Amino acid sequence: RTGARVERQPLARFTTLGVGGEAEVWFVGTHEQLAEAMEQPYRVLGGGSNLVIADEGVPERVIRLSGPFAERDLELDPALSAGDGVVTGWVGGGVPLPGLLRALQKLGLSNLEGTVGIPAQVGGAVWMNAGTRYGEMFDGLHTIEIVTPAGVRQVTPDDLNWGYRNSGIPRNHVVTQVRLKLRRSTPEAVLERMEHADVARKGQPKMKTPGCAFKNPRTPEFPDGVSAGRLIDQAGLKGTRVGNAMISPDHANFIVNLGGATAADVHALLHLIRERVGVAMELEYELWP
Ligand code: FAD
Ligand code: EPU
Repeated sequence: RTGARVERQPLARFTTLGVGGEAEVWFVGTHEQLAEAMEQPYRVLGGGSNLVIADEGVPERVIRLSGPFAERDLELDPALSAGDGVVTGWVGGGVPLPGLLRALQKLGLSNLEGTVGIPAQVGGAVWMNAGTRYGEMFDGLHTIEIVTPAGVRQVTPDDLNWGYRNSGIPRNHVVTQVRLKLRRSTPEAVLERMEHADVARKGQPKMKTPGCAFKNPRTPEFPDGVSAGRLIDQAGLKGTRVGNAMISPDHANFIVNLGGATAADVHALLHLIRERVGVAMELEYELWP
C-alpha cells in the first residue's frame, strides 16, 4: 500500500556475526511505510552488530530503515547553534555510524569521536547508547525522534533515563532520526581524539563477531565496573570452542564465528561463560528470538 519494499531474506547477511535464518524484511524510508510495517508484530534491525539471530530466523516482520531514513543532513541549524555549540539537521536512524563519524571529522565537529570503531547504525547506537570509555552516543544528541504504533514524538536526552549501554528507550520504539549536538573544533583535533579512542581497539579481534558478549559488571569490589573480558580471561576460557564459535583468544568478551557457526554454538558458549565466571554479568548481545 505505502510502497515499502518487502523481501524474505536470510538475516545472517545483515549481521556482523554472520548467523541467522530468514525473515520478512521491511525496508522503510517514510513514516507512512513505517506505520504500515508496524501493523503486525515486528522487530527492528540496525547494523546487526549486537545480534545473535536463531538459525530458524524469526516469525516477526523485521524493520530496516532505508531511503530517507538512511540519509544525513549535517547542515548546522542557525536557530539552535550559538558560539561553539552547534546543532545539525536530521540524521537518519539507518545511517552507518562509521561514515557519519568520518564526515563529522572532516567538518571539524566534535563530541562523538569516542564511538569510533563501532559498526552500528545511528538508530541502533542510540538505542543501546553505544560507547567506549572515551565517549558514548548520548554525548552528542540534541533531539531524538521516536516512532511507535501510537505515533511519532520528539524527545531530548533529558527526557530519558539513559546510562551505560542503555538509552532508556523501550524495545521496539524506533529511533527514526536524530539531531546532533556538537562542538566546533578542527578536523585535526577531532582526528587526534578519534585515533586516541581507536587505540583501545588494538586488542579486539578482526573476525565475524557481535562485539562484547557481556556488559562490564559493577560489583562492591569494582563500583565503576570491571572488564567482563578480564573476568572471562581469568576463568581460563580464551580460545574455548563449541562447534564453529569460539571465545576470542585476543579478547575474552568477544565470541567469534570461525565460519559456519550456528546460533546454538554461540548460546552454548554464553552458557559456559555464565557457569564458569563467578560474577553475575548482564548479557550485552541480543538473542533473537
Ligand atoms: P543491531 O545490532 O541491529 O540491534 C541492536 C538493538 O538495537 C536491537 O534491540 C534493535 O532492535 C535495536 N535497534 C536497532 N536499530 C534501531 C532503531 N533505529 N531504533 C530502535 N531500536 C533499534 N558497542 C559498544 O557500545 N561499544 C563498542 O566499543 C562496541 N564495539 C563493537 C565492536 C565490534 C567489532 C562489533 C561487531 C560490535 C561492537 N559493539 C560495541 C556492539 C554494537 O556495535 C552496539 O551494541 C550497537 O549499538 C548496535 O547497533 P546496531 O545498529 O548494529 O543494532
Ligand atoms: N582484559 C584482559 N583479558 C581480556 C580482555 C581484557 O585481561 O581477554 C583486560 C585488559 O588487559 C585491560 C582491561 O581488561 O586491562 C580492559 O580491557 P579493554 O580495554 O579491552 O576494555 P573492556 O572493558 O574489556 C570495553 C567495552 C568495549 C569497548 C572497549 C574500549 C564493554 C562491555 N566493553 O571493553 O565495547 O570497545 O571498552 O573502550 O563495555 C562492546 O560493548 O561491544 C565493546 C566492544
